Amino acid sequence: MIDMQLVFALKGIMNQKGINQRELADMIGKDETVISRWFAGKVGISRSSVELLEKALGEKLIKDKQHNMKKALITGVTGQDGSYLSEFLLEKGYEVHGVIRRNSSDHRERISHLEGTPHFHLHYGHMEDSMSLVKVVTMVRPDEIYNLAAQSHVQVSFDSPEFTADVDATGVLRVLEAVRAAGLENTCRIYQASTSELYGKVEEVPQNENTPFHPYSPYAVAKLYGYWIIREYREAYNMFCCSGILFNHESERRGETFVTRKITLAVARIAQGLQDCLYLGNLGSLRDWGYAKDYVECMWLILQNDKPEDFVIATGVQHSVREFAYYAFKHVGIELEFKGKGLDEIGVCVSDNRHSVHKKDTSLVGKALIKVSPDFYRPTDVVNLWGDPTKAKAKLGWNPNKTSFEELVKIMVDSDMAKVAGEGAAAKVRTNLAEYLEKGIVK
Ligand code: NAP
Ligand code: GDD
Repeated sequence: MIDMQLVFALKGIMNQKGINQRELADMIGKDETVISRWFAGKVGISRSSVELLEKALGEKLIKDKQHNMKKALITGVTGQDGSYLSEFLLEKGYEVHGVIRRNSSDHRERISHLEGTPHFHLHYGHMEDSMSLVKVVTMVRPDEIYNLAAQSHVQVSFDSPEFTADVDATGVLRVLEAVRAAGLENTCRIYQASTSELYGKVEEVPQNENTPFHPYSPYAVAKLYGYWIIREYREAYNMFCCSGILFNHESERRGETFVTRKITLAVARIAQGLQDCLYLGNLGSLRDWGYAKDYVECMWLILQNDKPEDFVIATGVQHSVREFAYYAFKHVGIELEFKGKGLDEIGVCVSDNRHSVHKKDTSLVGKALIKVSPDFYRPTDVVNLWGDPTKAKAKLGWNPNKTSFEELVKIMVDSDMAKVAGEGAAAKVRTNLAEYLEKGIVK
């Protein structure tokens, strides 16, 4: 155990100083294979080697504090929530280990600012591959695991139901078994990223911890397995494992195919003359949208609780997709009026007061900026999510209304306005439905 701590400390210092394995080997007069074997956890680092390393690097490898640092392992570290949670835990003084997928190219934009910082480490692992999970859990020996990795898009789960089940359902079981295989079942606390999608075709409004589940997509069915296997291991093996039943939470880091981000990006492009129209599906769908940055605090609070319990995390405020779009456009000075019903509904611009910088020659007044397309309808859609966060407020002392709906919309639109402006003349893209679909834009 102590050896891996040394390895992580060593890697952190090397990252900080921009030293690679070969250079380190030269600095201490050892063969590079010795260092590879330390890094792979195949041999320990002897006391004399530690002294040699400390002298060469001019840094202490083991600081007293390091012995007391809590270790967190985050699956799904490259996702929206994983990136915010990493920042949050690092600030709390944790040593953070993230699991990333091995890909031919790296997509790590959300955590690139953390890479190379002390106490932040990445490991390869896949939710479909037990051995990779056993390896990483055994090597890191975390005090807390946050299991955030998932195929998280509901429409994609209709297109790839088997893959979704493997990752989102069996994947949870693999994490639990990895903890048992590492002999950590009595010490390691586990947070499972559960979801309001479990309520699906809702049987009660608003939804709380006692509302019956009625999953309504392959994603939700897979997540329901995750929820129950966590409960099962809690009861069968007395493990400290809990589910956070989180309602939708968004941010400027949200994936571009989720409806809020799809809207804010389109608003920015339309406002800057790069897009003509936004195509959406069910405008009447209702969600309880919160800010992801506020929600990761709750994941941590759930694991600091005296006993393992499940919690609903939500704002308690509900809005429709139509309202989200209305406020997003309004924030850039475009007023919309919605006309028609169902597939014929359109959002027409009734006043155009865009900031002069973005104002183009032609006014948008009278133009249909939102249209409905059946391409964005789901085989079964969850349309009435509204959470009751009373338990989280009372037991965890969590504030569900730190960031209001209006502030959330503003944060996301402002960020996309800057992003689109920064991209400059990013070709006029996604202007019509045919282009959307041709480009394989996920629904
Ligand atoms: P996200 O942005 O889609 O991130 C998903 C993460 O899972 C990414 O890091 C992804 O890695 C990783 N991943 C996917 N498949 C994997 C696999 N087979 N092996 C290893 N890693 C894999 O999702 P999010 O919004 O941050 O949500 C985090 C978790 O909370 C998810 O489990 C989601 O289902 C759940 N949840 C989210 C919300 C919400 O509103 N955001 C609400 C309730 C529950 P790559 O970067 O390599 O793709
Ligand atoms: N994505 C998308 N695209 N959704 C649309 C569109 C569109 O063009 N038009 C309307 N919607 C509707 C969907 O039908 C759905 O009812 C609602 O907008 C929200 O869709 P998403 O933003 O894709 O999120 P979600 O609610 O299906 O799933 C998210 O939240 C869950 C928690 O409730 C994901 O983050 C899940 O991983 C998470 O569990």
